[in-house]
Amino acid sequence: MTGLSDAKNVRQIAAEILYRVENQKAYADLLLDHHLRSGNLVDADRGLLTELTYGTLRWRGKIDGQLAPLLKRSLADTDPLIRNLLRITLYQLLFLDKIPAYAAVNEAVEIAKATKPKSAGFVNGVLRSLLRKLAKGEQRGESETAATNLAEEYSHPQWLVDRWREYFGEEQARALMLANNQRTPLVVRVNLRKASREELLENWRAAGIAADAGTASPQAIRLPTGVSVEALPGFSEGWFQVQSEASQLVAYLVGPALGEIILDACAAPGGKSTHLAELIDDQGKIIALDTSARGVERIAENARRLGLTSIHAQCVNASKPLAENLAGPYDRILVDAPCSGLGTLRSHPEIKWQRDERDIARLAALQARILEAVAQYLNPGGVLVYSTCTLTVEENQQVIDHFLAANNQFELTDAARYLPESARHMVQGNYFQALPQRDDTDGFFAARLRKVD
Ligand SMILES: C[S@@+](CC[C@H](N)C(=O)[O-])C[C@H]1O[C@@H](n2cnc3c(N)ncnc32)[C@H](O)[C@@H]1O
Repeated sequence: MTGLSDAKNVRQIAAEILYRVENQKAYADLLLDHHLRSGNLVDADRGLLTELTYGTLRWRGKIDGQLAPLLKRSLADTDPLIRNLLRITLYQLLFLDKIPAYAAVNEAVEIAKATKPKSAGFVNGVLRSLLRKLAKGEQRGESETAATNLAEEYSHPQWLVDRWREYFGEEQARALMLANNQRTPLVVRVNLRKASREELLENWRAAGIAADAGTASPQAIRLPTGVSVEALPGFSEGWFQVQSEASQLVAYLVGPALGEIILDACAAPGGKSTHLAELIDDQGKIIALDTSARGVERIAENARRLGLTSIHAQCVNASKPLAENLAGPYDRILVDAPCSGLGTLRSHPEIKWQRDERDIARLAALQARILEAVAQYLNPGGVLVYSTCTLTVEENQQVIDHFLAANNQFELTDAARYLPESARHMVQGNYFQALPQRDDTDGFFAARLRKVD
């Protein structure tokens, strides 16, 4: 794929990204970032590529619901690249106002001719029949009210709809799913050792970058998606770290003090390790573990770029007993556990199509193992924070309930006392829980435990 500056190729790239996300379980943000950084795209194309990729993933359930009746065979039997080309075209026709319908259809047919010539007639036929239905006012995207069911209306898999209704009730479940389908800003955490939030905001605005202060975290700045992070002023100088706003609140819960020894058991790519190091002004020691070798490299890269030397990253499985040199004791331990990620659907909409409901029990068991394994390395009086970026009860409250039941030397402490004023309302029953529908952030959970003296 070269010479990517015309709109037709942007659509082709979007279809190919969606193809890889669907068939190779690739991450949309990594594939997108590769193209956004390539330097081959003008700004408008970057924006369109981001919109087509995320928009189609967000609304895939609804799009598929409208696509299926237009096909003679099933959607699953359609060539995977063509299936995704049809999806991005339906996204444009049903959800975007600025792109003329004929242009979206013609470009899809041209891409089909160039990539799968035998499918061009099929693509043309399907899209023309949709255009006829649209002309009769039979179909429309986001504003459609008479959808057959919630799964299609809110574009979530049925098992997730069922869960959200069970956890949150009908009204909140609808609000959550709607929030999950909103466009999300790119959020960064200002490295306060290098600049204040106001200084960075002023610098970026002077450079013509639309940046706003976040509301939940005092260190957050929100930017429009589609910007290339590495091209932002201050990236190489370590003025900021990409980190979602709710995620930024976790290090405050840990509440580290200068000179402490801290274990970050699941640390890659280092968002929270680097935040912890900044909060202790790089004076102390942070042992950052992760099972991903590439992840460990990324922790080290981020620490270096941010000018931090107190972080020691190692490739270690934290669910197993730790080697003697890593076995503490620690003043504080953070378990930012591997989880189903269902709180992050705004920024990772592919997760709802890639996850299997059975993943939840498997992850909850792993989370419990990691928590149990590392808790023994905490000093009496020390603090243990458990966090996830998901909203399932099994991976959150139940993991903590089971842990506390089996470890009576630990007690749950009130998370609100440790959070900035702007985030205290996110604590209920001592648990921290950020909700997309209420807080305009990713969904997050955290519990702050103390080991009694
Ligand atoms: C939610 S992510 C961590 C995000 C990180 N704390 C941050 O703020 O940037 C969970 C991490 O756990 C790692 N992981 C999974 N199983 C693990 C294990 N048994 N021991 C240590 N890390 C593990 C994954 O590789 C992943 O990087």
